[in-house]
Amino acid sequence: MIRSNPSRTALALCALIPALMTACAQDAPPPPAADPGPPAAATDAPAAAPTVTARLGPDSPFAEGAPPPSREPDVIYVPTPERVVDAMLNLARVREGDVLYDLGSGDGRIPIAAAQRFGVRAVGIDINPVRVREANANAEAAGVTDLVTFKEADLFQEDIGDASVVTLYLLQSLNVKLRPKLLAELRPGTRIVSHAFDMADQWTPEATQEVDGTRIYLWTVPER
Ligand SMILES: C[S@@+](CC[C@H](N)C(=O)[O-])C[C@H]1O[C@@H](n2cnc3c(N)ncnc32)[C@H](O)[C@@H]1O
Repeated sequence: MIRSNPSRTALALCALIPALMTACAQDAPPPPAADPGPPAAATDAPAAAPTVTARLGPDSPFAEGAPPPSREPDVIYVPTPERVVDAMLNLARVREGDVLYDLGSGDGRIPIAAAQRFGVRAVGIDINPVRVREANANAEAAGVTDLVTFKEADLFQEDIGDASVVTLYLLQSLNVKLRPKLLAELRPGTRIVSHAFDMADQWTPEATQEVDGTRIYLWTVPER
């Protein structure tokens, strides 16, 4: 009898998620794995991985009656699996005194994990008010509202100069678009970690790591 191995199946699905996110970005030029092109994806896709702080989720009643985002999100919502969250925090060497910003924070799991594991202050920015409500509820359930705040805003418009660690799970093209802002606003020494997407030929990562079939990338803001 042939049995499928659930953990292998899950890993295979996780490995497909970046390609699906890229494919969901409208107006993308023909596929290339390397450059997904300008994204303009808008809708809330069902979460492809289980929501770990999952009292709430994409189908949450919190979504009912929520106002729509002020503009279309640049990328759909897909949560980072918890093991990848942990690896991102480790790769960024998060430590006491850090201030972590997650740009496009979804259900808030990265800022919440940073506060829980390291006791650091953390800020999440998401353009979708449903995600911000969900993240606030998750922070409350996790007992970290004294350390974590979530803001409904466009990540390209917010001042991020306070951060010493920045986490991203966007798209390669968004990372590249964000790069000038990162270099202009962040202090030298600030660590940036991205799940699944690099910065093309615009900025070579100083470290990469494979985690559960996906890859995470690390950059450090250089001295000016
Ligand atoms: C792939 S999800 C990542 C969620 C979370 N960072 C994680 O890793 O679990 C991307 C998130 O970015 C948000 N987003 C998309 N465009 C945005 C923008 N311009 N400003 C702020 N958030 C945005 C989406 O609403 C979505 O929640």
